[in-house]
Amino acid sequence: MNHTIAEALRRRRAVRNFQAREVETEKIEQLLEAATSAPNDRLREPWHFYVVRGEAKERYTELALTFLQERFPTKPELIEASMTAVRNTPLLIVVASDIVPGDAEASEDNEYAVACAIHSMWLAAGELGLGMVWRTRGVGLVRDERLRRFVGATEGQKIIATLCVGYPEGEAAPTKRTPFADKTTWL
Ligand SMILES: Cc1cc2nc3c(=O)[nH]c(=O)nc-3n(C[C@H](O)[C@H](O)[C@H](O)COP(=O)(O)O)c2cc1C
Repeated sequence: MNHTIAEALRRRRAVRNFQAREVETEKIEQLLEAATSAPNDRLREPWHFYVVRGEAKERYTELALTFLQERFPTKPELIEASMTAVRNTPLLIVVASDIVPGDAEASEDNEYAVACAIHSMWLAAGELGLGMVWRTRGVGLVRDERLRRFVGATEGQKIIATLCVGYPEGEAAPTKRTPFADKTTWL
């Protein structure tokens, strides 16, 4: 149980190993609720969430295999490891950000807002006993046109993330951070 925001931030981890257990609809809704509380410029609420589970997740798995075989034809071990990760992920949430036509700056701000929403989901997941990782590369398929078609994203949406969600299997290893002093200039 987290008692403070500082503790929740410290404890948040990228979780990539999951139990073979479905995530309840109610918990998915709580994640989405957390997401939509995020700050966003001019209240554009620039996010859209595509929940991929059950039969749709089976189709996502096929899509990931096609992508990997095309992208890494000489790396069967990489393909196998990546496919194991996808197969063992019970739930995917693909997150899109609205593009503001003719306004690159507003579109960029929308992406920042969506990143805030994703971080909120990440923290909420921990509180719900769930684990999560934000994937863009590889089986995240974020930059692959086929993912856009798969979820039915419009021309006015940019895919930002594929969130892999489930009940954690084991403990995710802690990661290191550079002390803030090395990343800060006081003026
Ligand atoms: C924008 C973004 C993209 C990421 N893409 C991937 C990814 O494609 N695959 C992956 O395994 N992890 C991905 N991650 C998770 C990071 O690798 C992870 O946060 C990092 O290793 C630090 O671990 P921690 O979150 O447990 O501190 C991504 C994270 C962010 C913020």
